[in-house]
Amino acid sequence: MKAVAVFPGKAGSIHLTEVQKPSVQDIPSGRGVLVKVLRVGVDGTDKEINAAEYGQAPPGADFLIIGHESFGQVEAVGPKVTEVKPGDYVAATVRRPGSSIYDQIGTYDMTTDDTYFERGINLRHGFLTEYYVDEPEYIVRVPEGLKHVGVLMEPTSVVEKGIVQAYEIQRRMRVWQPRRAAVLGASTLGLLATLVLRLRGLEVVVMARTRPPFLNSHLIEQIGARYVSTQDLTLTQASDQFGPFDLMLEGTGFSPLVFEAMEVLAKNGVLVLVSVTGGNRTVDVPADKINLGFVLGNKVAVGSVNANREYFELGAKDLSQAELQYPGWLSKFLTHPVKGLENYQEMMRLLTEEKNAIKVFVTVAKE
Ligand SMILES: NC(=O)c1ccc[n+]([C@@H]2O[C@H](COP(=O)([O-])OP(=O)(O)OC[C@H]3O[C@@H](n4cnc5c(N)ncnc54)[C@H](OP(=O)(O)O)[C@@H]3O)[C@@H](O)[C@H]2O)c1
Repeated sequence: MKAVAVFPGKAGSIHLTEVQKPSVQDIPSGRGVLVKVLRVGVDGTDKEINAAEYGQAPPGADFLIIGHESFGQVEAVGPKVTEVKPGDYVAATVRRPGSSIYDQIGTYDMTTDDTYFERGINLRHGFLTEYYVDEPEYIVRVPEGLKHVGVLMEPTSVVEKGIVQAYEIQRRMRVWQPRRAAVLGASTLGLLATLVLRLRGLEVVVMARTRPPFLNSHLIEQIGARYVSTQDLTLTQASDQFGPFDLMLEGTGFSPLVFEAMEVLAKNGVLVLVSVTGGNRTVDVPADKINLGFVLGNKVAVGSVNANREYFELGAKDLSQAELQYPGWLSKFLTHPVKGLENYQEMMRLLTEEKNAIKVFVTVAKE
């Protein structure tokens, strides 16, 4: 079968390859689930893996099949699988357990191991292929009514984790009643974070550089949030006008904004950081002021990466609610379909050059 792969460490090495089709017997415990891949979303991580910024091949291989935002349909199950059955629509989690205590209890997204295993990213093959096999522990059912947007399951899980972490932390307040939130970044993660916060009933201000109107600002306004360009208002000015923000989520990839967010975060507020910033940018910050605000204002900042199946399941619920509350809204995200694995070059081109793309995804097969 076909697969899209890279040679890790070699920039621009993306290529189409032939690999053997897996089967449920590949998992000898009888707990194998064979999934036919239907659609796979791609994001900045795939771009960075192809640029050789990170990514490692599985042991014994010189190539890595990429793709971590999967959506598919179960084709066959081993004799000891009861959780899913052929025909079910599913998404797969990305990280696989290592050895820390967190890995052992299913919270592998909280691993303290230095080496981690992620399908399509690090040491495990991904989903930009025709079939994959995995254990049901890592496979999450997607309601049939969500099959047209099932490819959003993985990015939604990332956002769910960040927001759940914020609410978990805020249980320290006993009576935390957040009213206003700010989301920094208005692309896939920013839009999904805005959705999840709107579903929780918060007022949301979303900020990015691009001046409105454009598709993302329309989408934000359609679910009752406010879009502000950082070219028109700084974060501090936006906070003065629309804040203070009880919950902030930073997902721009531009780390200096983190410190401005720390300054404007409301008293008793929580700031969730999700941007993966691989560079080595430095900035001067008003350190005393930020520290004093944090101490006297009982503020919290928390980093959040990846997600375990709990957040995928929560994502399926919120995506379902979104389809009821804002019918058709999610589909508008899926801006750039690419037909077939063999069009991987077009996929990469859209990912790197198409400024209007929100979600680029590959249609691998029809159900
Ligand atoms: N923690 C995790 O597990 C995890 C998982 C996946 C992704 N991520 C990270 O999350 C971030 C968001 O992901 P994404 O896929 O939504 O990214 P993306 O497509 O790169 O979107 C970035 C957004 O931030 C805005 N932005 C960029 N620079 C800005 C600046 N200087 N000031 C204000 N806005 C700015 C962009 O819009 P404009 O160009 O209009 O400004 C865009 O709306 C990325 O950093 C990614 O690495 C984290």
